[in-house]
Amino acid sequence: MLLQRSVLVLVAVHSALASDAALQPQKIVLSSRIAPTPSALKRRQLSQANVPLEDFFKGTDLQWFGNISVGTPPQDITVVFDTGSSSLEFSSTLCNSCRNAAPKFDPSRSSTFVDGGRTSSITFGTGVGVDPVVGDNYQLTLRSGTDTVTVGGLKSTNVPLFLITDQTPTFNIDPFSGIQGMGARASGFFASLIAQGLPSLFGLFLTPLSVGNAELTIGGVDSSKFSGPLTFASLPGRGSSAWTLTSTGVSVNGRTTSTLSTSRSLIFDSGTSNMIFNTATTEAIYALISPDIKPNSAEPGTYGIACNRISSLPAKIDITFTAQTGRPFNLTIPSSELSVGPFANDPSLCQTLINAVDNFQIVGASLLKHYYSVWDVGNQRLGFAAI
Ligand SMILES: *[C@@H]1O[C@H](CO)[C@@H](O)[C@H](O)[C@H]1NC(C)=O
Ligand SMILES: *[C@@H]1O[C@H](CO)[C@@H](O)[C@H](O)[C@H]1NC(C)=O
Repeated sequence: MLLQRSVLVLVAVHSALASDAALQPQKIVLSSRIAPTPSALKRRQLSQANVPLEDFFKGTDLQWFGNISVGTPPQDITVVFDTGSSSLEFSSTLCNSCRNAAPKFDPSRSSTFVDGGRTSSITFGTGVGVDPVVGDNYQLTLRSGTDTVTVGGLKSTNVPLFLITDQTPTFNIDPFSGIQGMGARASGFFASLIAQGLPSLFGLFLTPLSVGNAELTIGGVDSSKFSGPLTFASLPGRGSSAWTLTSTGVSVNGRTTSTLSTSRSLIFDSGTSNMIFNTATTEAIYALISPDIKPNSAEPGTYGIACNRISSLPAKIDITFTAQTGRPFNLTIPSSELSVGPFANDPSLCQTLINAVDNFQIVGASLLKHYYSVWDVGNQRLGFAAI
């Protein structure tokens, strides 16, 4: 769910919203605060907490979501913990177009809810599933507010949030109520917990459905979920809320090309189901897998090949990064991820995992589900361990 841009509907908006032309996540910075640096004078430490996650599976793993509670008394809702955005928004009883089968928050039943009075809308650059974003087809209309938010039993008060008051029909298939942004600058409930002494990192275990036990750990790492060492790489240090690493090159089945062996910025987004590369990179990767992988003009940006051929194609994609130690390391997408299932317009044609988009490049769940990942806000680094 890369937050592509946010569009102001009514007045009274933070100035950061005005610069929304840039195709970067983190535009709803009115709700974000920079994580305070840990202080030795903290009176107490909060301990890490685990939040079990459920896999939204429709033939392939799409998104992982878990419970949080909002308000007083607490109302349980479900959210995707989305490293590609930075704010908390969820469906509310104010939303007539929210047709998804997920709990809606009723602000009139919460004694701690404070209406912020601002209306805005946000448009996501990637949606749920693998279908491309066309125009504004992933758009939410929001009303600002604050309330108490509890995640994994850890409570924060006066958390900035947004009630969804209108949504495009693309969201109606979601089995969850909303999205909790988990950008590289702590915001919302996470910033509040860090201020209360929680360590400023979280771990994600986004497993395939067949493996199960998916989990978010806030304030730490669940070392029972992986065996090998963690390899860390530093964010480029632009102070952005995007979880970006610089890749030095991409190989497919052990081969590379001049297009693929160049340096590129990749955004790590737990809210994007698959992979997004620019068109030249996408086509260079597919050319090394099969010349018969072709664009599907019915869905711009997508590619596919006959379903009866796809499972036999080797398609191991190694993406190379540089660890904090200076050594190169690969994150690898196995061949089993190549197919993301049949296209709606032609079920004999199976969609392949990379969508072409020319203004940002994203590593999504196709890769993340093969690693335990550590999102270290305090040290501005990402860590990976084989599972
Ligand atoms: C969320 O809470 C509900 C109700 O307690 C429970 O049935 C469900 O399994 C929980 N979901 C997850 C992902 O933990
Ligand atoms: C990364 O993958 C490429 C292509 O398979 C391989 O040549 C290279 O040795 C790998 N690098 C590391 C550090 O494993």
